[in-house]
Amino acid sequence: MKMTILTLFPEMFDGLFSHSILKQAQDRDVVSFHVVNFREFSKDRHQRVDDYPYGGGGGMVLTPQPLFDAVKHVKEQAKGKSPRVVLLCPQGEPYSQKKAEEFAQEDELILICGHYEGFDERIREHLVTDEVSIGDYVLTGGEIGAMVIADSVTRLQQGALGNETSAVTDSHSTGLLEYPHYTRPAEFEGMKVPDVLLSGHHAKIEAWRRQESLKRTFTRRPDMLSKADLTPKDQAIIDK
Ligand code: ADE
Repeated sequence: MKMTILTLFPEMFDGLFSHSILKQAQDRDVVSFHVVNFREFSKDRHQRVDDYPYGGGGGMVLTPQPLFDAVKHVKEQAKGKSPRVVLLCPQGEPYSQKKAEEFAQEDELILICGHYEGFDERIREHLVTDEVSIGDYVLTGGEIGAMVIADSVTRLQQGALGNETSAVTDSHSTGLLEYPHYTRPAEFEGMKVPDVLLSGHHAKIEAWRRQESLKRTFTRRPDMLSKADLTPKDQAIIDK
């Protein structure tokens, strides 16, 4: 999968893309990241990308030309395909694991990171296919949101994670929060690992994990339960 990130601050992505799973995923050709400074596409003689808002008011607005030309350039390399163009902004659709799974199906994505007061509306109306917000708060720009998308979509790609099952049992992928994990030692400063996990009894371990997952979701995120696929047995655990 190819992800192109259009930003005025390309260096912000250096750390994320050169470490851990995102680095490994690139090394394994699972994903490629192209970070492009869209200022390079500005036809303004001072390479400006923003201007004062019509009608007055504070703040600067990103002008259409550099972003339209940058997206056109990326699309020309897409060999007839038309990649989705995702704008990061607080007014967008709330980002979720479901949206990450949807984006993960694409061969290519273009992510636009804004800065300053906002975008000229023609960018939203005629260039962008998706507007995404990573939460109900306002950030200084779209870069952190683009990192969230790049990270969450990469880890869903086949071959990105060493252990293929880990993306499947994740919190949110199952519609429930994940069950508790333990590792050695079996006892640490008097705190013990639950006996069932040491029993070697796989069916019992599975049942315990499901129960803990349900309990945790019930106490922390009851809103998720209404959407989860629950068996009558699950329901009985919750009703207890
Ligand atoms: N840019 C500024 N705030 C944002 C948010 N909450 N989500 C995505 N992009 C943003």
